[in-house]
Amino acid sequence: NPGALWGARFAGGPSPELAALSVSTHFDWDLALYDIAGSHAHAAALAAAGYLTEGEERRMHAGLDALARRVSDGSLRPGPDDEDVHGALETALIAEVGPELGGKLRAGRSRNDQIATLVRLYLLDHARTIARELLRVIDALVAQAEAHPDAIMPGRTHLQHAQPILLAHHLQAHAWPLVRELERLRDWSARASVSPYGGGALAGSTLGLDPQLVATRLGLSRPAENSLDGTAARDVVAEFAFIAAMIGVDLSRLAEDVIIWNTREFGFVRLDDAYSTGSSIMPQKKNPDIAELARGKSGRLIGNLSGLLATLKGLPLAYNRDLQEDKEPVFDSVRTLEIVLPAVAGMIATMTFDTERMAELAPQGFSLATDVADWLVKRGIPFREAHEISGALVRLCEQQGIELHEATDEMLAAVTPRLEPEVREVLTIEGSVASRDGIGGTAPVRVAEQRTELVARAQSA
Ligand code: ARG
Repeated sequence: NPGALWGARFAGGPSPELAALSVSTHFDWDLALYDIAGSHAHAAALAAAGYLTEGEERRMHAGLDALARRVSDGSLRPGPDDEDVHGALETALIAEVGPELGGKLRAGRSRNDQIATLVRLYLLDHARTIARELLRVIDALVAQAEAHPDAIMPGRTHLQHAQPILLAHHLQAHAWPLVRELERLRDWSARASVSPYGGGALAGSTLGLDPQLVATRLGLSRPAENSLDGTAARDVVAEFAFIAAMIGVDLSRLAEDVIIWNTREFGFVRLDDAYSTGSSIMPQKKNPDIAELARGKSGRLIGNLSGLLATLKGLPLAYNRDLQEDKEPVFDSVRTLEIVLPAVAGMIATMTFDTERMAELAPQGFSLATDVADWLVKRGIPFREAHEISGALVRLCEQQGIELHEATDEMLAAVTPRLEPEVREVLTIEGSVASRDGIGGTAPVRVAEQRTELVARAQSA
């Protein structure tokens, strides 16, 4: 096998069974352009250390550029005998610049330090794409909040009516975790910006190559401090997979709210036709499939993370071939987010709210009972007692089948004379939300202030 990177000490080529198990070109070809970038940097380090003449270095870069063009236009693909992206590209380089020069590039590097570097480059690039798409979901939530600054909805805990809140407050509550994901991606990027190149197979290189030169050329901040750690650690991949899974979970919770709001029973939102699907049998159906797929795909994002952690657990130092199993799950997480995020952004941006229905339901289920208790507290009554009084009023109203604001003066007085008719001033949803004006509360002024802060945080992440 002329393409093999090893073989001299073997009596024959690999068995077909081994080749079938070992081959990784069907997924690691996604790293081809990063592999070539690594080779450019490595060639520069070889030249700087005197292993390539100026002319050789020039021809090497030109050859690598030619490979990059052919990878990009699809004319260069791995062959059936290629084990991995590294071998396939070395074969192609030798065909391009000849065996004499092409055979020099492998000096002082191993596929182990290469792959550990390339996977970082790949993830750093995709972290930027994912951040951009996350920002679009945040923008969609913020735009909807801005378009409905005063709309009031029932706020729930345990999925039961709890207290009235602003729709904008709820939408922004879904945006904040996504802002934190942006911040996590930024923090992760700083940690990921390390180059294992130069670590060789595990113990470092004898050739006196400058690993900082390679790191700088690759846009990474510094070389790995420890060659064993550099080649064998994959926490950088697992941490990325965690962030991807966490984003999946955030989107899933948002999706679940949309699915519930979209039911006939709730009737809070209508999804745009372009972002809903129909049924093959029931002509009337309009389904929230984007939300369901976002919710469903969070399962596979979690699976990718768990699978990766299971692969890493128990691996002795340094490199083991098990580490090849890091790529498919994390590549899948990247692809999954890159298709889910734009769909969710579009669904959120185009959905319309039935704010009248939300406002009508907001005071139902005695959701203003806390406001009654707080009103009493402001009149000097201990909260414990105020809670009891408000609870007694709820029970009375429930018996009569009416809501709190419908209680007559006589009913209020029957509970306690301290419940004067003025209590009705807090028994409106507008009064209730406006009064929750502490930092982070649902009062319109606070929610607007919060939105400014949210946008600033998202933009600086
Ligand atoms: N394909 C391997 C991986 O993904 C990199 C090659 C290292 N292979 C080896 N036999 N040392 O980790």
